[in-house]
Amino acid sequence: MPKASDVLDRVLVLEMVRVTEAAAIAASYLIGRGDEKAADAAAVEAMRKAFDELYMDGTVVIGEGERDEAPMLYIGEKVGGAVGKGPKIDIALDPLEGTTITAKAGPNALAVLAAAEEGCLLNAPDVYMQKIAIGPGYPEGTIDLTKSPGDNVRSLAAAKGVEPHQIIACVLDRPRHAEMIAELRELGCGIILIPDGDVAGVIATTDPDTTIDIYMGSGGAPEGVLACAALRCVGGQFQGKLLFRNDDERARARKWGIEDLDRIYKLDDLAKGDCIFAATGVTDGSLLDGVKHLKGGKYTTESVVMRASSGTVRWVRGEHHTTD
Ligand code: FBP
Repeated sequence: MPKASDVLDRVLVLEMVRVTEAAAIAASYLIGRGDEKAADAAAVEAMRKAFDELYMDGTVVIGEGERDEAPMLYIGEKVGGAVGKGPKIDIALDPLEGTTITAKAGPNALAVLAAAEEGCLLNAPDVYMQKIAIGPGYPEGTIDLTKSPGDNVRSLAAAKGVEPHQIIACVLDRPRHAEMIAELRELGCGIILIPDGDVAGVIATTDPDTTIDIYMGSGGAPEGVLACAALRCVGGQFQGKLLFRNDDERARARKWGIEDLDRIYKLDDLAKGDCIFAATGVTDGSLLDGVKHLKGGKYTTESVVMRASSGTVRWVRGEHHTTD
Protein backbone atom coordinates (compact mmCIF):
# COMPACT_ATOMS: atom_id res chain seq x y z
CA MET A 1 0.00 0.00 0.00
CA PRO A 2 1.42 3.47 -0.85
CA LYS A 3 2.41 5.59 2.16
CA ALA A 4 -0.01 8.42 2.98
CA SER A 5 2.82 10.93 2.55
CA ASP A 6 3.46 9.80 -1.05
CA VAL A 7 -0.21 9.93 -1.86
CA LEU A 8 -0.57 13.41 -0.39
CA ASP A 9 2.17 14.42 -2.79
CA ARG A 10 1.33 12.69 -6.00
CA VAL A 11 -2.38 12.29 -6.09
CA LEU A 12 -4.33 14.11 -3.50
CA VAL A 13 -2.98 17.64 -3.64
CA LEU A 14 -4.71 18.59 -6.85
CA GLU A 15 -7.62 16.22 -6.36
CA MET A 16 -8.60 18.06 -3.19
CA VAL A 17 -9.50 21.07 -5.30
CA ARG A 18 -12.23 19.08 -7.03
CA VAL A 19 -13.76 18.48 -3.62
CA THR A 20 -13.82 22.14 -2.55
CA GLU A 21 -14.93 23.19 -6.04
CA ALA A 22 -17.89 20.83 -5.86
CA ALA A 23 -18.97 22.23 -2.50
CA ALA A 24 -18.51 25.85 -3.58
CA ILE A 25 -20.47 25.38 -6.80
CA ALA A 26 -23.34 23.70 -4.96
CA ALA A 27 -23.46 26.49 -2.37
CA SER A 28 -23.23 29.21 -5.02
CA TYR A 29 -26.80 28.54 -6.15
CA LEU A 30 -27.92 29.67 -2.70
CA ILE A 31 -25.89 32.92 -2.52
CA GLY A 32 -28.12 35.76 -1.33
CA ARG A 33 -31.15 33.51 -0.88
CA GLY A 34 -31.35 34.05 2.88
CA ASP A 35 -31.23 30.35 3.69
CA GLU A 36 -28.10 29.35 5.62
CA LYS A 37 -29.22 25.79 6.18
CA ALA A 38 -29.98 25.10 2.52
CA ALA A 39 -26.64 26.57 1.42
CA ASP A 40 -24.77 24.47 3.98
CA ALA A 41 -26.68 21.31 3.11
CA ALA A 42 -25.95 21.74 -0.60
CA ALA A 43 -22.24 22.20 0.07
CA VAL A 44 -22.10 19.23 2.44
CA GLU A 45 -23.83 16.88 0.03
CA ALA A 46 -21.62 17.90 -2.89
CA MET A 47 -18.44 17.59 -0.83
CA ARG A 48 -19.45 14.19 0.50
CA LYS A 49 -20.03 12.92 -3.05
CA ALA A 50 -16.78 14.39 -4.40
CA PHE A 51 -14.74 12.59 -1.72
CA ASP A 52 -15.89 9.25 -3.09
CA GLU A 53 -13.89 9.91 -6.26
CA LEU A 54 -10.60 10.04 -4.34
CA TYR A 55 -8.41 6.99 -3.80
CA MET A 56 -8.01 7.22 -0.04
CA ASP A 57 -9.21 5.80 3.24
CA GLY A 58 -10.27 9.11 4.74
CA THR A 59 -11.56 9.85 8.21
CA VAL A 60 -13.33 13.09 9.05
CA VAL A 61 -11.67 14.50 12.19
CA ILE A 62 -13.29 17.91 11.95
CA GLY A 63 -16.64 17.97 10.26
CA GLU A 64 -20.26 18.96 10.46
CA GLY A 65 -20.69 17.79 14.04
CA GLU A 66 -21.04 14.56 15.92
CA ARG A 67 -22.73 11.53 14.42
CA ASP A 68 -26.10 12.15 16.04
CA GLU A 69 -26.08 15.82 14.96
CA ALA A 70 -25.02 15.58 11.33
CA PRO A 71 -26.29 13.19 8.67
CA MET A 72 -23.18 13.61 6.53
CA LEU A 73 -19.51 14.45 7.07
CA TYR A 74 -19.82 13.87 10.79
CA ILE A 75 -16.72 13.41 12.94
CA GLY A 76 -15.45 9.87 12.53
CA GLU A 77 -17.19 9.29 9.20
CA LYS A 78 -15.16 7.39 6.64
CA VAL A 79 -14.84 9.12 3.29
CA GLY A 80 -13.07 8.33 0.05
CA GLY A 81 -13.30 5.71 -2.63
CA ALA A 82 -10.80 3.29 -1.07
CA VAL A 83 -11.92 2.85 2.52
CA GLY A 84 -10.08 -0.11 4.04
CA LYS A 85 -7.61 -0.27 1.13
CA GLY A 86 -6.17 3.17 0.40
CA PRO A 87 -3.81 5.39 2.36
CA LYS A 88 -5.19 6.58 5.68
CA ILE A 89 -5.82 10.32 5.55
CA ASP A 90 -7.38 12.54 8.21
CA ILE A 91 -9.63 15.29 6.93
CA ALA A 92 -10.74 18.55 8.56
CA LEU A 93 -13.45 20.22 6.56
CA ASP A 94 -15.94 23.01 6.39
CA PRO A 95 -17.98 22.62 3.19
CA LEU A 96 -19.33 26.13 3.71
CA GLU A 97 -17.25 28.42 5.94
CA GLY A 98 -19.57 31.42 6.16
CA THR A 99 -23.14 30.17 5.97
CA THR A 100 -24.57 33.56 6.94
CA ILE A 101 -22.24 35.36 4.55
CA THR A 102 -23.52 33.14 1.74
CA ALA A 103 -27.15 33.69 2.70
CA LYS A 104 -26.57 37.45 2.70
CA ALA A 105 -24.21 37.48 -0.32
CA GLY A 106 -21.41 38.97 1.78
CA PRO A 107 -17.66 38.55 1.22
CA ASN A 108 -15.23 35.71 2.04
CA ALA A 109 -17.40 32.58 2.10
CA LEU A 110 -15.25 29.55 1.32
CA ALA A 111 -15.48 25.81 0.83
CA VAL A 112 -12.46 24.56 2.71
CA LEU A 113 -10.62 21.44 3.82
CA ALA A 114 -7.33 20.27 5.23
CA ALA A 115 -5.88 16.80 4.81
CA ALA A 116 -2.99 15.19 6.64
CA GLU A 117 -1.55 11.87 7.59
CA GLU A 118 -3.44 10.06 10.31
CA GLY A 119 -3.19 11.80 13.70
CA CYS A 120 -1.73 15.10 12.44
CA LEU A 121 -4.78 17.38 12.79
CA LEU A 122 -6.14 18.22 16.24
CA ASN A 123 -9.52 16.66 16.81
CA ALA A 124 -10.90 20.03 17.92
CA PRO A 125 -14.29 20.07 19.62
CA ASP A 126 -16.90 22.49 18.32
CA VAL A 127 -16.27 25.14 20.97
CA TYR A 128 -14.81 28.63 20.76
CA MET A 129 -11.10 29.22 20.53
CA GLN A 130 -9.25 32.40 21.51
CA LYS A 131 -6.97 33.06 18.54
CA ILE A 132 -4.09 35.27 17.59
CA ALA A 133 -2.25 35.05 14.26
CA ILE A 134 0.31 36.91 12.20
CA GLY A 135 1.84 36.27 8.80
CA PRO A 136 5.36 35.05 7.99
CA GLY A 137 8.66 36.87 8.48
CA TYR A 138 8.53 37.79 12.18
CA PRO A 139 10.72 36.35 14.95
CA GLU A 140 9.19 33.41 16.82
CA GLY A 141 7.46 34.70 19.96
CA THR A 142 6.30 37.99 18.43
CA ILE A 143 2.77 37.12 19.52
CA ASP A 144 1.77 35.66 22.87
CA LEU A 145 -1.82 34.78 23.74
CA THR A 146 -1.11 35.21 27.45
CA LYS A 147 -0.39 38.90 26.87
CA SER A 148 -2.90 41.69 26.31
CA PRO A 149 -4.03 42.74 22.80
CA GLY A 150 -2.14 46.01 23.31
CA ASP A 151 1.10 44.23 24.25
CA ASN A 152 0.79 41.99 21.20
CA VAL A 153 0.27 44.98 18.91
CA ARG A 154 3.30 46.76 20.44
CA SER A 155 5.43 43.64 20.02
CA LEU A 156 4.33 43.21 16.39
CA ALA A 157 4.86 46.90 15.65
CA ALA A 158 8.41 46.67 17.02
CA ALA A 159 9.10 43.57 14.92
CA LYS A 160 7.69 45.29 11.83
CA GLY A 161 9.50 48.54 12.49
CA VAL A 162 6.36 50.69 12.65
CA GLU A 163 4.34 52.49 15.31
CA PRO A 164 1.48 50.60 17.03
CA HIS A 165 -1.11 52.89 15.43
CA GLN A 166 0.08 51.69 12.01
CA ILE A 167 -0.89 48.09 12.76
CA ILE A 168 -4.09 46.80 11.14
CA ALA A 169 -6.00 44.13 13.04
CA CYS A 170 -8.76 41.86 11.78
CA VAL A 171 -11.46 41.04 14.34
CA LEU A 172 -14.82 39.27 14.14
CA ASP A 173 -17.53 41.86 14.70
CA ARG A 174 -19.05 40.48 17.91
CA PRO A 175 -20.14 42.12 21.20
CA ARG A 176 -17.77 39.74 23.03
CA HIS A 177 -14.85 41.58 21.41
CA ALA A 178 -15.88 45.07 22.63
CA GLU A 179 -13.16 45.28 25.29
CA MET A 180 -10.43 44.12 22.92
CA ILE A 181 -11.60 46.54 20.23
CA ALA A 182 -11.56 49.41 22.76
CA GLU A 183 -7.98 48.51 23.72
CA LEU A 184 -6.90 48.47 20.07
CA ARG A 185 -8.68 51.79 19.44
CA GLU A 186 -6.76 53.31 22.37
CA LEU A 187 -3.57 52.50 20.48
CA GLY A 188 -5.02 53.99 17.31
CA CYS A 189 -4.80 50.73 15.35
CA GLY A 190 -6.86 50.19 12.23
CA ILE A 191 -9.47 47.48 12.82
CA ILE A 192 -11.08 45.54 10.00
CA LEU A 193 -14.27 44.14 11.49
CA ILE A 194 -15.49 41.07 9.65
CA PRO A 195 -19.07 39.79 9.93
CA ASP A 196 -18.04 36.11 9.76
CA GLY A 197 -15.38 33.88 8.27
CA ASP A 198 -12.30 33.85 10.45
CA VAL A 199 -10.49 31.20 8.37
CA ALA A 200 -10.15 33.88 5.69
CA GLY A 201 -9.42 36.44 8.43
CA VAL A 202 -6.43 34.47 9.74
CA ILE A 203 -5.11 33.69 6.26
CA ALA A 204 -5.41 37.39 5.35
CA THR A 205 -2.47 38.11 7.70
CA THR A 206 -0.19 36.25 5.27
CA ASP A 207 -1.10 38.44 2.28
CA PRO A 208 0.28 41.99 2.31
CA ASP A 209 -2.39 43.05 -0.22
CA THR A 210 -5.04 42.73 2.49
CA THR A 211 -3.07 45.20 4.71
CA ILE A 212 -4.02 43.00 7.69
CA ASP A 213 -1.12 42.50 10.10
CA ILE A 214 -2.75 40.53 12.88
CA TYR A 215 -5.87 38.49 13.56
CA MET A 216 -7.28 38.51 17.10
CA GLY A 217 -10.35 37.27 18.90
CA SER A 218 -12.45 34.18 19.47
CA GLY A 219 -14.11 32.07 16.82
CA GLY A 220 -14.74 28.39 16.17
CA ALA A 221 -12.00 25.96 17.24
CA PRO A 222 -12.47 23.80 14.11
CA GLU A 223 -11.91 26.92 11.99
CA GLY A 224 -8.70 27.45 13.97
CA VAL A 225 -7.36 24.07 12.87
CA LEU A 226 -8.28 24.75 9.24
CA ALA A 227 -6.55 28.13 9.31
CA CYS A 228 -3.46 26.55 10.88
CA ALA A 229 -3.21 24.02 8.06
CA ALA A 230 -3.00 26.98 5.66
CA LEU A 231 -0.46 28.83 7.81
CA ARG A 232 1.69 25.70 7.99
CA CYS A 233 1.95 25.90 4.18
CA VAL A 234 2.57 29.63 3.72
CA GLY A 235 4.19 30.55 7.03
CA GLY A 236 3.01 32.61 9.93
CA GLN A 237 2.44 32.24 13.65
CA PHE A 238 -0.70 31.21 15.49
CA GLN A 239 -1.72 30.58 19.07
CA GLY A 240 -5.09 29.32 20.22
CA LYS A 241 -6.78 28.38 23.48
CA LEU A 242 -10.05 26.51 23.74
CA LEU A 243 -12.82 28.43 25.51
CA PHE A 244 -15.50 26.52 27.37
CA ARG A 245 -18.87 27.98 28.26
CA ASN A 246 -20.14 25.02 30.28
CA ASP A 247 -19.42 21.48 31.48
CA ASP A 248 -20.99 19.97 28.42
CA GLU A 249 -18.36 21.67 26.25
CA ARG A 250 -15.59 20.51 28.60
CA ALA A 251 -16.93 16.96 28.39
CA ARG A 252 -16.95 17.21 24.61
CA ALA A 253 -13.28 18.16 24.61
CA ARG A 254 -12.35 15.29 26.94
CA LYS A 255 -14.27 12.90 24.71
CA TRP A 256 -11.97 13.85 21.84
CA GLY A 257 -8.90 13.17 23.94
CA ILE A 258 -8.13 16.69 25.16
CA GLU A 259 -6.87 16.48 28.73
CA ASP A 260 -5.28 19.87 29.37
CA LEU A 261 -8.23 22.22 28.91
CA ASP A 262 -6.09 25.34 29.49
CA ARG A 263 -3.44 24.49 26.94
CA ILE A 264 -2.23 27.13 24.54
CA TYR A 265 -1.87 25.51 21.15
CA LYS A 266 0.67 26.65 18.61
CA LEU A 267 0.60 26.09 14.88
CA ASP A 268 2.24 22.65 14.98
CA ASP A 269 -0.02 21.47 17.78
CA LEU A 270 -3.10 22.03 15.63
CA ALA A 271 -1.75 20.88 12.26
CA LYS A 272 1.50 18.94 12.29
CA GLY A 273 3.50 16.87 9.82
CA ASP A 274 2.76 17.20 6.16
CA CYS A 275 -0.64 18.64 5.37
CA ILE A 276 -2.67 20.03 2.52
CA PHE A 277 -5.01 22.99 2.63
CA ALA A 278 -7.53 23.56 -0.15
CA ALA A 279 -10.20 26.20 -0.55
CA THR A 280 -12.56 27.43 -3.24
CA GLY A 281 -14.24 30.81 -3.06
CA VAL A 282 -18.02 30.78 -2.78
CA THR A 283 -18.42 34.56 -2.64
CA ASP A 284 -15.71 37.07 -3.58
CA GLY A 285 -13.16 37.63 -0.85
CA SER A 286 -9.62 38.61 0.09
CA LEU A 287 -8.26 35.15 -0.64
CA LEU A 288 -10.34 34.03 -3.60
CA ASP A 289 -12.98 35.14 -6.06
CA GLY A 290 -16.33 33.48 -5.67
CA VAL A 291 -18.19 31.24 -8.10
CA LYS A 292 -19.34 33.20 -11.16
CA HIS A 293 -22.35 32.00 -13.13
CA LEU A 294 -21.90 33.05 -16.75
CA LYS A 295 -24.11 32.88 -19.79
CA GLY A 296 -24.65 29.56 -21.54
CA GLY A 297 -24.56 27.42 -18.41
CA LYS A 298 -20.88 28.14 -17.86
CA TYR A 299 -19.38 29.09 -14.53
CA THR A 300 -15.95 29.73 -13.09
CA THR A 301 -14.31 28.93 -9.78
CA GLU A 302 -11.14 30.09 -8.10
CA SER A 303 -9.31 27.81 -5.71
CA VAL A 304 -6.04 27.51 -3.90
CA VAL A 305 -4.30 24.36 -2.80
CA MET A 306 -1.16 24.35 -0.69
CA ARG A 307 1.14 21.77 0.79
CA ALA A 308 3.13 22.17 3.98
CA SER A 309 6.14 19.96 3.19
CA SER A 310 6.99 21.76 -0.06
CA GLY A 311 5.40 25.14 0.62
CA THR A 312 3.91 24.95 -2.87
CA VAL A 313 0.86 27.14 -3.39
CA ARG A 314 -1.20 26.49 -6.51
CA TRP A 315 -3.92 28.83 -7.69
CA VAL A 316 -6.51 27.01 -9.76
CA ARG A 317 -9.06 28.71 -11.98
CA GLY A 318 -11.77 26.34 -13.15
CA GLU A 319 -14.21 26.72 -16.01
CA HIS A 320 -17.17 24.43 -15.68
CA HIS A 321 -20.26 23.67 -17.74
CA THR A 322 -23.55 22.62 -16.26
CA THR A 323 -24.65 19.22 -17.36
CA ASP A 324 -28.31 19.69 -16.43
P1 FBP B 1 -20.42 29.21 9.92
O1 FBP B 1 -19.97 29.06 8.52
O2 FBP B 1 -20.57 27.91 10.61
O3 FBP B 1 -21.61 30.09 9.98
O4 FBP B 1 -19.20 29.92 10.71
C1 FBP B 1 -18.84 31.23 10.42
C2 FBP B 1 -17.97 31.81 11.53
O5 FBP B 1 -17.92 33.21 11.37
C3 FBP B 1 -16.57 31.26 11.60
O6 FBP B 1 -15.70 31.75 10.62
C4 FBP B 1 -16.16 31.66 12.99
O7 FBP B 1 -15.09 30.89 13.48
C5 FBP B 1 -17.44 31.44 13.78
O8 FBP B 1 -18.52 31.52 12.81
C6 FBP B 1 -17.67 32.45 14.86
O9 FBP B 1 -18.75 32.05 15.63
P2 FBP B 1 -19.91 33.05 16.13
O10 FBP B 1 -20.73 33.43 14.93
O11 FBP B 1 -20.67 32.25 17.11
O12 FBP B 1 -19.24 34.23 16.71
